[in-house]
Amino acid sequence: MKAFIFDLDGVLVFTDRFHYQAWKTIADRMGISFDESVNDRLRGISRAESLEIILEKYDKALLSDSEKRDLLEEKNQIYRKYLSGMTPEHVSPEVRETLLSLREAGFKLAVGSSSKNAIFILEQTGLMDIFDAIADGNHITRSKPDPEVFLKAAEYLGVEPADCMVVEDAYAGIEAARAAGMKTAGIGTASGDERADYKIQSFRELLKIAGI
Ligand code: G6P
Ligand code: MG
Repeated sequence: MKAFIFDLDGVLVFTDRFHYQAWKTIADRMGISFDESVNDRLRGISRAESLEIILEKYDKALLSDSEKRDLLEEKNQIYRKYLSGMTPEHVSPEVRETLLSLREAGFKLAVGSSSKNAIFILEQTGLMDIFDAIADGNHITRSKPDPEVFLKAAEYLGVEPADCMVVEDAYAGIEAARAAGMKTAGIGTASGDERADYKIQSFRELLKIAGI
């Protein structure tokens, strides 16, 4: 193993809470039921595809394409308001120290996220300089479970997919990493994914996996 590729939302930072709150604001107003189980299905899924999932039980004929675009814009504005309150304090010492130890041990580190806000989050939390490469929602045409974002990250790193370990909280992310031919560590929600090579409860367990 030569590199680690990290999902961002729900792995490095808990912005998954902000996604939930932003979608919930919109769903509540529209009278659509939205809870943690729906939210878990949105992990790793692009903004536009997430809206389609939220609208599954809604009469979609009621919404024009431009109304959907407005909802996506509104969701992103609410979400970015939460993000603008983020600081380096929003990264746990455990996450920061583990990343630094992996780096020191010679592993390449990348972010592989479906989010178009990834750079903003990494800047807000002071994580930008830790990574050798960032592949995000702006570099891809298909979001997870498609492997595109992880293959891009490996390409940017100059590392073969088979030498990469993906760390994910999303079932869609585990699926994407496997499709890319990479090894997988499931954390959070994805620690319950049987397909993951490693199921971890805490971030620092990555050190053991890396043999440090
Ligand atoms: C991540 C999150 C998803 C989110 C997606 C797009 O993968 O897990 O819940 O929908 O990014 O995020 P964006 O910031 O572009 O709306
Ligand atoms: Mg995630």
